[in-house]
Amino acid sequence: MNEFCQPSADDIAVFRTIVGDDQVVTDPELLNTYSKDYTEDLRFMPAVVVKPGTTQEVSKVLAHCNTMHIPVTPRGAGTGLSGGALPVYGGVVLSMERFNRILEIDERNFQATVEPGVINEVFQQAVREKGLFYPPDPASKGSCFLGGNLSHSSGGPRAVKYGTTRDYVLNMELVLANGEVIETGANTLKYSTGYNLTHLLIGSEGTLGVITKIQFRLIPHPEQTLLMLASFPSPENACEAVSGIFRAGCTPSVCEFVEPEGFRLSSTMLNIPFEIKEGIGAYLLIEVDGNDLNNLMLDCEKISVVLDEFGASEVLLAQSSDEKEYFWKLRRSIGEATKHGNVYKEEDTVVPRAELPRLFSGVKEISQRYGFRTVCYGHAGDGNLHVNILKDQLPDAFWNGDLDKAIVEIFELCKKLGGTISGEHGIGYVQKKYMPVVMPESQLQLMRGIKLAFDPRGILNPGKIF
Ligand code: MLT
Ligand code: ZN
Repeated sequence: MNEFCQPSADDIAVFRTIVGDDQVVTDPELLNTYSKDYTEDLRFMPAVVVKPGTTQEVSKVLAHCNTMHIPVTPRGAGTGLSGGALPVYGGVVLSMERFNRILEIDERNFQATVEPGVINEVFQQAVREKGLFYPPDPASKGSCFLGGNLSHSSGGPRAVKYGTTRDYVLNMELVLANGEVIETGANTLKYSTGYNLTHLLIGSEGTLGVITKIQFRLIPHPEQTLLMLASFPSPENACEAVSGIFRAGCTPSVCEFVEPEGFRLSSTMLNIPFEIKEGIGAYLLIEVDGNDLNNLMLDCEKISVVLDEFGASEVLLAQSSDEKEYFWKLRRSIGEATKHGNVYKEEDTVVPRAELPRLFSGVKEISQRYGFRTVCYGHAGDGNLHVNILKDQLPDAFWNGDLDKAIVEIFELCKKLGGTISGEHGIGYVQKKYMPVVMPESQLQLMRGIKLAFDPRGILNPGKIF
């Protein structure tokens, strides 16, 4: 299955005929850009990058690769954090960067038809201009592609109220490994017509087909937001407060947990001041949204009571849109800042919300026992904690050896608490070895069977998920 062919000069000539000379990259320096994504320091060189511009071109490229048994790695903006876009078997990187058009915003139906290479934030702004809302907002929203978001069912801070990418996709146009083009569903809000291929494809990380068109559903845009930053001496209490907020009947649009080191790193990288007061163990960044400012103020008061009950030492309400933007900039940059100049591994742990305190203290206990440092932050309202493990001065032998045992312990804890090993970053290349921690062989076999049905020759994004 893995004895792939690398594209020959003849194959590359075929690609040039299909997509045009200037849309085929073979220059080693340019290929280098496509050899990595945002995952650790991993690099795999593709033999060639092909940039199709139409569904027909994708279809012809895939049909050729399928016949010649050439591996194909579909690629969005390369902002993934689990190595999903790494061409681990060389071959073709199929870059979807030319699929960058918003084809229609249908205000009558609250829907939009979009190509997969549109940047998330560009789409958000385009629908915003029509009073509509596309909520999924990963930290990389300024550069990540919607196609990549579908591939991992990306979330982001607002998922706690609005759900992840999955909750906004109605239908898609998909090119199968053999070049056939299908639709996965219908442009309807309901779908009870056999297996739901749309939902199967979301989160399939480019292993089942290449998405060439997406039909999204949209919702009305809320007019107002209020943003609070709460400081806690005890990080465990901050985690406990999270489910307390929901139990008090509030549904914030954002509920993020940040360890002080996260804000320290992002303020240093951005070179903007952020004072971390003595004795602070964690922050919660909480946003409420809606149309009635008075109601939102009441929500904030209700939430503040809960924060007090759980020992918050200070609760700040952002006073202006500039101040909101300041906090958001600090929060969104934590991932990048943590990785900046550090050797790291990032785990995307997720548990049911009320188990977050157990997850956090378990992660800290494991890291202390093995002797490594972690910076934790993430989408607390979803029970989704990003655990960044920093190498610091740890010996290579530990980093490449026993650290794995610690990661397995962290994932076993997730499983024990009713959670899993990734909430939104996906499995890709770097997490696949941990899949058996959370699922039995029979479940993996079902997934392999699905892969085989879609892609009998195994050419699509090989080496990912399992
Ligand atoms: C985030 O929540 O900031 C993103 O998932 C990115 C990351 O964790 O690196
Ligand atoms: Zn995240």
